[in-house]
Amino acid sequence: MTKIGFIQYKVAFGDKQANMSAILDHVDAVRGASLIVLPELALTGYDFIDTDEVASLAEPAFDGPTTEFIRDLARDTGAAIVIGYPERDGDTLFNSCMLLNPDGSHMNYRKIHLFSRETTLFSPGPAAPPVIDTPAGRVGLMICFDWIFPETARLLALQGAQIIAHPSNLVLQYCQRAMYARSVENRVYTITANRIGTEERAGRALTFTGASQI
Ligand code: ACM
Repeated sequence: MTKIGFIQYKVAFGDKQANMSAILDHVDAVRGASLIVLPELALTGYDFIDTDEVASLAEPAFDGPTTEFIRDLARDTGAAIVIGYPERDGDTLFNSCMLLNPDGSHMNYRKIHLFSRETTLFSPGPAAPPVIDTPAGRVGLMICFDWIFPETARLLALQGAQIIAHPSNLVLQYCQRAMYARSVENRVYTITANRIGTEERAGRALTFTGASQI
């Protein structure tokens, strides 16, 4: 039997060390899983004020403290780990997620369907969502608001995905129910790893809906 899991927690805005500690506090609960999914923007928080703030927390794909942390976590747990993070590629910023396998193989995905203010902070991903083989089977990657477009999950299923990893920072009500449909229509398992907590930034408050699910 294959075990898969997620970690849902309250993300502290801008404090990567605190968020790494929060993840480590929960990791024993999912030890034994061969795939562990963490939320979107899991070490930074979500509601950036502007692109300068994104840039100050962004990292290149597979090069930086987020990658080092996830590589160690994959080795320690023997699981493939998926995490959302702000990616910097030259001057371009993406809302991305990466998957790292315990053997060091890896895959990156840049979110295609940006939500609300994200369109002012990030560039949309230029490529179709990818799949990669992991100890849990063939895994496809999509991020949060990608859920509302059935084509995203369909593209992953057509590439042979058996499980869709779905790091999220959800603020609307409907995604969790819609992901049942994405699973059934594509005959895949889906893991939506959401976060909890409220971010109060620049006079705005955003509350995240939790209710992560497999
Ligand atoms: C979202 O895409 N983070 C709602």
